[in-house]
Amino acid sequence: MAKKKQKKAKAASRKPARKVVKLAAARNAKGKSNGKPNGLPRPSNKPYGQDGKALTGVRVLDFTHVQSGPTCTQLLGYMGADVIKVERPGVGDITRGQLRDVKGQDSLYFTMLNGNKRSITIDSKHPQGKRVLDALIKVCDVLVENFAPGALDRMGLTWDYIHKLNPRMIVASVKGFGPGPYEDCKVYENVAQCAGGSASTTGFRDGPPLVTGAQIGDSGTGVHLAWGIVCALYQRMRTGRGQKVLCAMQDGVLNLARVKLRDQQRLRAGPLTEYSQYGEGVSFGQAVPRAGNDSGGGQPGWILKCKGWENDPDAYIYFITQAPVWEAICDLIGKPQWKTDPDYATPPARLPRLKHIFATIEEWTMTKTKFEVMDICNRVDIPVGPILSMKEIAEEPSLRATGTVVEVDHPGRGKYLTVGNPVKMSDSITEVKRSPLLGEHTDLILEELGFKSAEIAEIKNSGALSAPKKEEKAA
Ligand code: COA
Repeated sequence: MAKKKQKKAKAASRKPARKVVKLAAARNAKGKSNGKPNGLPRPSNKPYGQDGKALTGVRVLDFTHVQSGPTCTQLLGYMGADVIKVERPGVGDITRGQLRDVKGQDSLYFTMLNGNKRSITIDSKHPQGKRVLDALIKVCDVLVENFAPGALDRMGLTWDYIHKLNPRMIVASVKGFGPGPYEDCKVYENVAQCAGGSASTTGFRDGPPLVTGAQIGDSGTGVHLAWGIVCALYQRMRTGRGQKVLCAMQDGVLNLARVKLRDQQRLRAGPLTEYSQYGEGVSFGQAVPRAGNDSGGGQPGWILKCKGWENDPDAYIYFITQAPVWEAICDLIGKPQWKTDPDYATPPARLPRLKHIFATIEEWTMTKTKFEVMDICNRVDIPVGPILSMKEIAEEPSLRATGTVVEVDHPGRGKYLTVGNPVKMSDSITEVKRSPLLGEHTDLILEELGFKSAEIAEIKNSGALSAPKKEEKAA
């Protein structure tokens, strides 16, 4: 027995030693592999921002439409990928014509989600269209799609088919639900917000569930998918093969609502004391309730009126009564006695009194504009958030200066604002380019694929790249 124990202890003590050797090998690899640790090239000598972009050389076959998929591929384009958007001839992405603000021109819905892409029109169900698609599949690294479940297969583009043509291809999909009872459902933004746990936990306790202004179902899932794609590209460097990447909108929303699943489990241990209903003496039910504007973290917060609230629907500020700055808050709002009053001096003592505390702080915030509150509070490290309207955001000079809000010029509709890359990189600088016109790059892409002019003429004459003529449609 003792011998067995000794053996075990010996084996255990050997384990970390092996790890140390591995790390030491990596540390010393520089000397051994001529300055190329882990097979990486030597550090570039070019100035930062002048050695290509993060995804330079990555080609994306973009079969996306509406919002979730286009969000993903636009982000890949911002990072330097060549994004080739395949659109149905004559129609294109349905959003080109949705919520139009300029007659006959691509809508902002489309233009703001399809920058940094090229457009080719292909009828994917036409034999000559399939010929072009096959050529694209062979040269692209990633295919991204967010068709209804089964639509890609119905086009004949099954995983087996794609993988046979290009074993390195990453096939990335957004679907509403993952495998299970709802996997065949078509899904839009608000369906995902409801099914992912966001709506049941958003809104006021005594009101109905609410959907959010931020498009966490569509754009949120697009962001998740982009992350999955980049990870798959990284893994492919080691394995040499592509893989399927799936992000279900329900899963993406739930990932963003994970603190609410945290609270669901905390309910077993008793009431959620940071929810204002606790302070108000309202008992908790079986599931996480809607928490209004309560803070999602451990620090109580609420939205308070500021000067001008009577006429300005956005004259409000989010105020957090963070424990470390409680004394500074008391001084600001003219309640220095609360610093030592046992009813207010500690976070647990304050919990049942939050409604009264926030009402008192509001008496102070209502005497100032939201920007004045922001200035005064930040000077003493009190975290507050002015409720910014979209008008204020569109006009905010600092957001223009950082490239977060960008003005681009479009040949059809003129200048428009879009949201630039929210991720800033020091060696991969984003240039935001306007969205493409429908089929703008069809000829160029066919040439780049190596089709001869006679072949291009043949493909074009077949009708695979153009809208069906009216008589044909009627027939
Ligand atoms: N050439 C020929 N046919 C094309 C084509 C092309 N270039 N591009 C699309 N089509 C066809 C598809 O093959 C499909 O035909 P099929 O149903 O006969 O197989 C058809 O167009 C419609 O595609 P579909 O994806 O079903 O569009 P939809 O407008 O009916 O549904 C969604 C839209 C968004 C509800 C659905 O695509 C979906 O649930 N997507 C996954 C979840 C998602 O991303 N939702 C959020 C969108 S922001």
